[in-house]
Amino acid sequence: MKVAVVGATGMVGEVMLKVLAERNFPLTELIPVASERSVGKTISYKGQDYKVVGLADAVAMKPDVALFSAGGDTSLEWAPKFAEAGTTVVDNSSAWRMDATKKLIVPEINANELTKDDKIIANPNCSTIQLVMALAPLHKKYTMKRVVVSTYQSVSGTGVKAVKQLENEIAGIEGEMAYPYPIGRNALPHCDVFLDNGYTKEEMKLAKEPQKILNDTSFSVSATAVRIPTAGGHSESVNVEFENDFELADVRKLLSETPGVVVQDNTDTNTYPMPIYAHDKDDVFVGRIRRDETQKNTLNMWIVADNLRKGAATNTIQIAEYLIANKLI
Ligand SMILES: NC(=O)c1ccc[n+]([C@@H]2O[C@H](COP(=O)([O-])OP(=O)(O)OC[C@H]3O[C@@H](n4cnc5c(N)ncnc54)[C@H](OP(=O)(O)O)[C@@H]3O)[C@@H](O)[C@H]2O)c1
Repeated sequence: MKVAVVGATGMVGEVMLKVLAERNFPLTELIPVASERSVGKTISYKGQDYKVVGLADAVAMKPDVALFSAGGDTSLEWAPKFAEAGTTVVDNSSAWRMDATKKLIVPEINANELTKDDKIIANPNCSTIQLVMALAPLHKKYTMKRVVVSTYQSVSGTGVKAVKQLENEIAGIEGEMAYPYPIGRNALPHCDVFLDNGYTKEEMKLAKEPQKILNDTSFSVSATAVRIPTAGGHSESVNVEFENDFELADVRKLLSETPGVVVQDNTDTNTYPMPIYAHDKDDVFVGRIRRDETQKNTLNMWIVADNLRKGAATNTIQIAEYLIANKLI
């Protein structure tokens, strides 16, 4: 496989290279791609150096697959050019996620929708992926009516510039700001841009993407997305109302039997998911599983995952692996 990593110098791109190497992805040629600012820089992969190339050169090299994490505008302009050249694109930006002609895939849930004709495939938003990983098996068994989610999102979700802002604040250095306010010792109820309805774009991704992934509009999701000064992963407080009642023991059992989900839930030993434990892992961690005592058939839980791995790089690479395993590229 000739593989282009578009955005190879970014937060997600770097993790993408790490995960490709770890999983021994069947890669025969790597094409690291970034903006004109980075062309000519060297990227190391499995001990070998590769020169970063620009987008036009990468298209001309006709990769088999291009893993995109270079922002929505780059995807909108360039993913179709790769697709025209015969490359299958798996895109991490929000550019194609809600396009009715594109699939939005979490491999554990809906990879079976993929066909040879899918030349641009969308990877869901990081906070959506960890949410649906836990919701999908519960929805299948108990039928969700309504989900209320509040996120506690890592600065690594904004990219290199935001991680630098937090590091600068901790070191007492004045530098470039990724956010309109300091993020250290703060919580910003503001992830991505505000929309006309008063929600942020991140909140609307959480509202809409789960319906598309689960291919079901019969449930609704209401979200508040908050940026906090953590770096290891995103956390989510999730309240789910079901049509049908459940036993907490069955919920724990079902989640612990779900591939890619790990239950960490023991209040006697202070065991619950946290970003410092989720960091650098591919699993989605679920804990604080308890009944909402104010409403029937309703569950509360706490979900944590590394937004750069299962929330981005790992999910993208799992999609590419599925395509290869099923001879779809
Ligand atoms: N961070 C997350 O948790 C996360 C999760 C899911 C999805 N995503 C999505 O993944 C994408 C990248 O996020 P990130 O956090 O990795 O951002 P980042 O750290 O800012 O990196 C951006 C990458 O895109 C490249 N790039 C920017 N403009 C470009 C252009 N015009 N042409 C070619 N390459 C260009 C940059 O290259 P230079 O180094 O040359 O500037 C860099 O490699 C975004 O669409 C984001 O929404 C991020």
